[in-house]
Amino acid sequence: MNTANQELRGEVAVDPSFAQGAAFVEGQFVPVAEARIPLLDRGFTRSDATYDVTHVWKGYIFRLDDYLDRFERNMAALRMQPPLGREEIRAALIECVRRSGLRDAYVQMTCTRGVPPGGSRDPRVCKPCFYAFAVPFVWISDPAQQKRGLNLHVSTRRRIPPDCLDPRIKNFHWLDMTMGQFEAFDAGCDTEVLTDGEGNLTEGPGFNVFVVQQGRLMTPAEGVFDGMTRRTVIELCQELGLPVEETVVPVAGLATADEVFLSSTAGGIMPVTRIEGRVVGDGTPGPVTALLQGIYWERKANGWHGEPIAYCN
Ligand SMILES: Cc1ncc(COP(=O)(O)O)c(C=O)c1O
Repeated sequence: MNTANQELRGEVAVDPSFAQGAAFVEGQFVPVAEARIPLLDRGFTRSDATYDVTHVWKGYIFRLDDYLDRFERNMAALRMQPPLGREEIRAALIECVRRSGLRDAYVQMTCTRGVPPGGSRDPRVCKPCFYAFAVPFVWISDPAQQKRGLNLHVSTRRRIPPDCLDPRIKNFHWLDMTMGQFEAFDAGCDTEVLTDGEGNLTEGPGFNVFVVQQGRLMTPAEGVFDGMTRRTVIELCQELGLPVEETVVPVAGLATADEVFLSSTAGGIMPVTRIEGRVVGDGTPGPVTALLQGIYWERKANGWHGEPIAYCN
């Protein structure tokens, strides 16, 4: 029988039942389809959880320390003391990937409040739980869709405002975005962006938004998650000398935008070529979007910001 420490050190051989993904639950690695969490965990009953998602591309895990910094910051913001330290969390994530054997993977870490003692509703008495999994890479929009570009709906729904919940704390309160997605599908669009209720863009289900006007890039500064892909795009722009600003981005700015794109771990830099059916620019992915998208994937194929996974097959 393998000890938990042997498992965390990656000393255990790969089992083919992990090929569809590997999970780490209650200190054990299990095939993702067999992973179960306790029904009474407040992560499930109250969305009382924070999570983060990094990814593996061509065998390299992307910006892992930056994702771990953000995850730690968010657990602290929610007053959650995880049961594992940073190095154990890092080892569990890497071992999930190694076990799955996946060269391109979506890798999630989650900390929940845990199961309250019987009869209690006091979050202070719960013991937080840590869960992780690695599954095949997830695309908000796959490469074929990205070639033609997305048709974006502007939701009539307001994103949960920052004075209700700081959007920089990655959380499970997704219903504003999920119901917005239904609205978008009903309108024949691919996905949607929500507003701040005052006529400005925020973000959408799993992504940040960028607008390009006369060579200048803008992305909403407030009321949004500080996405790692957004950060990577901003850094790339700075390196390339492209003017980029975190600012207020009015919905009205979409009508005069030369280009619009979305950014997410789940898909990278994704061109938007229509807003509710109206063409953006000439209706094809624009040159700034294509430049950033090309560099992003080309560098990632060569392990940019990456740490190689020591697969055993
Ligand atoms: C609400 C929201 N905004 C933006 C993002 C993009 O963040 P990242 O680039 O770190 O994936 C996500 C990612 O899941 C998200 O859930």
